[in-house]
Amino acid sequence: MTAVIYPVILPVPAEVQRLRPKQRVQSLSDCARQALALSAERLGVRLGPLEKDDRGAPVPCRGNFWSLSHKPDYVGGVVAPSAIGLDIERLRPCSPGLRRKTADAAEWALMGHGDVQTTFFRYWTAKEAVLKARGEGLRDLSRCRIDHILDTTHLRVDYAGKTWTVEHFFFEDHVAAVAAGGFRVEWTLARPG
Ligand SMILES: CC(C)(COP(=O)(O)OP(=O)(O)OC[C@H]1O[C@@H](n2cnc3c(N)ncnc32)[C@H](O)[C@@H]1OP(=O)(O)O)[C@@H](O)C(=O)NCCC(=O)NCCS
Repeated sequence: MTAVIYPVILPVPAEVQRLRPKQRVQSLSDCARQALALSAERLGVRLGPLEKDDRGAPVPCRGNFWSLSHKPDYVGGVVAPSAIGLDIERLRPCSPGLRRKTADAAEWALMGHGDVQTTFFRYWTAKEAVLKARGEGLRDLSRCRIDHILDTTHLRVDYAGKTWTVEHFFFEDHVAAVAAGGFRVEWTLARPG
């Protein structure tokens, strides 16, 4: 039977959005940990103290791997029994320079008749999710390559000799990506109010 993971996305409360930048970052981080706690609860595991390594990457806790993302409007967290990476981005215009930096001509050729903005954020979040699953930062972006677009919510990424399947979830004007090996993914989006 395929194991299930439960990424949880929460809207950022208005009072957090109104905070000054420094306090807001800390509060977003706290909100993301609330999403993580819900993901752990759905998975039926208990997390202990959350620690990070010298790269800032989450350290597995009692055999549970975890990943967070926090953006101005939404935060997310996910727990899994093996390496996991989560990223969230708001869909917005992106410059040709950033498109070229994020994927090369061969990767863009996989897009077919897809929409450029949506494809850019699928590629970006997929690569970032894979890098997070490996504990790496964005400096390794160019070594991550889109290998195949499977359908409108799944694609494959090659990185460091391994192929990852990434699943996307579109909500409001955002997209989230989770990179995990072989899990069935059940997304939860908690709506305000
Ligand atoms: C790690 C990184 C990919 C995060 O992306 P982001 O879009 O800025 O931020 P997100 O909100 O999606 O994710 C933040 C979470 O990522 C996690 N994170 C940080 N470094 C990580 C790493 N090396 N591996 C996995 N996860 C990491 C943390 O849990 C963090 O949340 P926290 O600070 O509340 O614990 C990015 O900041 C990065 O690459 N940093 C390294 C510096 C670098 O290479 N800079 C080059 C910029 S072009």
